[in-house]
Amino acid sequence: MPIDWFQPGGARKRIVGIGSALVDILVSTDDAFVAQTGVPKGGMIYFDPPVIDQVLKDAGATPQIVPGGAACNTITGVARLGGETRFLGKRGRDEFGERFEAALVRHGVDTLLADSATPTGRVLSLITPDSQRTMLTYLGASSEMVPEEVPPAYFQDCAVALIEGYLVYNRTLFQHAMQSARQAGTRIALDLSSFTVVDENHRNLKSIVARYVDILIANEDEARAFTGLEDETAAVRALAEQAELAVVKRGARGSLIGHGDQIITVPAHGEGNVVDTTGAGDLWASGFLFGLVQGLPLAQCGKLASVCGYEVCCVIGASIPAEGWQRIRQFTAIYPDRTGLKEVS
Ligand SMILES: Nc1ncnc2c1ncn2[C@@H]1O[C@H](COP(=O)(O)OP(=O)(O)O)[C@@H](O)[C@H]1O
Ligand SMILES: [Mg+2]
Repeated sequence: MPIDWFQPGGARKRIVGIGSALVDILVSTDDAFVAQTGVPKGGMIYFDPPVIDQVLKDAGATPQIVPGGAACNTITGVARLGGETRFLGKRGRDEFGERFEAALVRHGVDTLLADSATPTGRVLSLITPDSQRTMLTYLGASSEMVPEEVPPAYFQDCAVALIEGYLVYNRTLFQHAMQSARQAGTRIALDLSSFTVVDENHRNLKSIVARYVDILIANEDEARAFTGLEDETAAVRALAEQAELAVVKRGARGSLIGHGDQIITVPAHGEGNVVDTTGAGDLWASGFLFGLVQGLPLAQCGKLASVCGYEVCCVIGASIPAEGWQRIRQFTAIYPDRTGLKEVS
């Protein structure tokens, strides 16, 4: 099924992400330590930086510090696939902010971060031996983006803008980002982010989706929260009435892509031997959107998405290691003129 937005060789290929600039601080620990923090295992609670610093100190382990945030993960993934990218967000004028920015720049992302006197946002993830994550979050500067920091000029050379659902809490910014992208003639993709985000912002999201969104990305829980439908096929149909392209991701059961009255069933990749599903949806979107702007047929976009989603499930954390990217590149041997991809087998 062709979708004729992005022809191979089309002028615009860049994908711009707008999201929370969060540093991920990963620490391996045990259940007893998690219990001491008072955060329910597997859950997330907001704290101020001094509390997070203290918990990190008490953990006594050397943390791994990497850029995080859903849209940022997706954009980094697109950059690793060889796509042109940009990221818009807001950081603090501190070491975490510098590290966040440097990591994106290193991956070749055109990084346009506003800055603030407020510290950079961060998520301390306590990873237990069962690979569950318990999170202590401080949004800091990441939640302070204002409309002037997301002007239409930043979208002018972009094929797709990927907007993170978490931004809906910053209502003015959220709508302004949609307007800027629209004004620049950029297709708008919205990832619903979490079923809590959908439940808490149901009316606003519905009206924004109907007005602006071309590509609506949800997992099974978000699709149910948005549509009120238990049946996933019915849900993807309902979503495809709101946006030209709709996606329902279903973990190990693969995904459904809806376009008009057609539905494509995309199988998951791999043998189901996964380690940690953090970032699965984010990297799924990397493969899907990259394929789309290369002008690949939807089924091939879905296939590439499944491969990327699977590879991030094979490791702890939201970033695919070099061997994983090597395997993914077998699926994306790019033509020399970069006008398209070889068939994904
Ligand atoms: N256990 C798994 N085995 C293989 N692939 C998986 C597995 N879990 C996730 N994936 C891949 O990652 C994609 C996104 O994961 P999913 O859990 O549906 O999204 P989200 O992270 O948004 O909840 C899936 O559609 C699938 O392609
Ligand atoms: Mg899931």
